Amino acid sequence: MTRLGAVLAGLALLAGCAVTYPGPATSRPTASASATPGATPTPTEASEDAFTASGDVPRVLDQELLGGIVGSISNQATSERAVFAAWPQFDRPRIDAALSSYYLATIRDFESDHRADSGSSELNLGWRVLAASPQLVGLASDGYLVGGTSGQSVWRSFWFAPGSDSVFGTDDLLDHGAALAALTSAAQTRSIRLDQVGPDPLTAAPLVAFSERGDLIVGYDSCRVADCADGLVTLTIPRAQTDALLTDVGRAAQAATITPTSPGTPAGGESPSASSTASPTTASPTTAAPTSAAPGTVDCRKRKCVALTFDDGPGPYTRKLLSHLSAKGVRATFFMLGQQVEMYPRIARAVAKGGHEIGVHTWDHRSMPTLTPAKMDSEINSTVRVIRSDAGFSPKYLRPPYGAMDAQVHAAAKRAGLAMVLWDVDTLDWKTRNTRKTVKAAEKLVHRGSIILLHDIHPTSVRAVPGIIDALRAKGYTFVTVSQLLGRTKPGHKYFAGPTG
Ligand code: NI
Repeated sequence: MTRLGAVLAGLALLAGCAVTYPGPATSRPTASASATPGATPTPTEASEDAFTASGDVPRVLDQELLGGIVGSISNQATSERAVFAAWPQFDRPRIDAALSSYYLATIRDFESDHRADSGSSELNLGWRVLAASPQLVGLASDGYLVGGTSGQSVWRSFWFAPGSDSVFGTDDLLDHGAALAALTSAAQTRSIRLDQVGPDPLTAAPLVAFSERGDLIVGYDSCRVADCADGLVTLTIPRAQTDALLTDVGRAAQAATITPTSPGTPAGGESPSASSTASPTTASPTTAAPTSAAPGTVDCRKRKCVALTFDDGPGPYTRKLLSHLSAKGVRATFFMLGQQVEMYPRIARAVAKGGHEIGVHTWDHRSMPTLTPAKMDSEINSTVRVIRSDAGFSPKYLRPPYGAMDAQVHAAAKRAGLAMVLWDVDTLDWKTRNTRKTVKAAEKLVHRGSIILLHDIHPTSVRAVPGIIDALRAKGYTFVTVSQLLGRTKPGHKYFAGPTG
């Protein structure tokens, strides 16, 4: 069998954690409607759990199956437009480089294609588990692009062996000639134009996967082999035919789809033995007692209150953040992504146990104004559910990704009974990735009633927190949660800051 190692192992280094967010330092997030309902793209939508396609869809498994071997989740986004990508890393150089090079190249292509776009474009790249066993893991990237008025879905499968750090291509899974013949004849029964992807439509297929019955499923991005309106397109080779096309690796991939098993033990992601460092009992009572008030006891009409908020987690650095907050006796507010809570449920619970608040930042960081009302509801409700079940916390607030809102988003928040909480101080931690600059920005921009935006997916931001707390306390600020700062809020209304005096 061929081992397809990644071309540029160095790319793995780039994959660290690179999230940036739009918005100038001192300005509030754009609250204007970026699209009227009539002009909003209404693309083919994938649910959180499965693909939708013209044709059969591959089996999609619970991400938790890989919880034991995922080392971290990489992120990348840019400030000029709405870009959010998340993908797993396994502490395996070749596998990590293969994944990172695909995600980073897709982001680069999108950015060069949409350079002149005036704000309606969006790229969102997630990941799904196709198959899992100690021998073989299958993943699919799950991408969604909006450019101008049309949406488009892209996907790509990755097959690899975590144990040997081997990455497999289509020809490692299938007998090429026989599979190509089967694919061509499957296309002839439908109006699928395989010739549009070149002379070898099997090699050109971005997705090779299996159904839960073991049928081979070959998939193409939207607009490639059929009308764009058909979305993602798949061709199915029935199980009876498929079995004769598989190599040993292909048989292992098929088996890991039909009968998935967890591939391993924790690789540094979320360890069951890692106890919470955020128990309220570990809070240091010796530091700054006057400004470490218990919930509900601060009157922000009389005190100089400020709220620290942390977006896009929980993640690998969140526990360190909890220990900083605990040591300083500060309670903060976390706007979590549903997919991150699902990946790090114990950390999410530790946040709640530490006395912090948790709000909704949607499931996968899609820009909400581009979504249908039904999809907005599912983004919010699925995240509320996972925060309740995994963290044991009932969220009251929604922070829409990128601060992007329109009347439909307000309505969706209201339906869910959530107030929208934005920010008035953007530390630009996502951009500078510099601990000292993050502290300085918070110190310079803060005023009474501020809601400060930070991201606990960056180690530089987490390291800035003790310095921010010390600097602001020296100026007489009291740290509170968002609910302490805002008091009573109304579902569907938006809040940028608390009482200013
Ligand atoms: Ni965010």
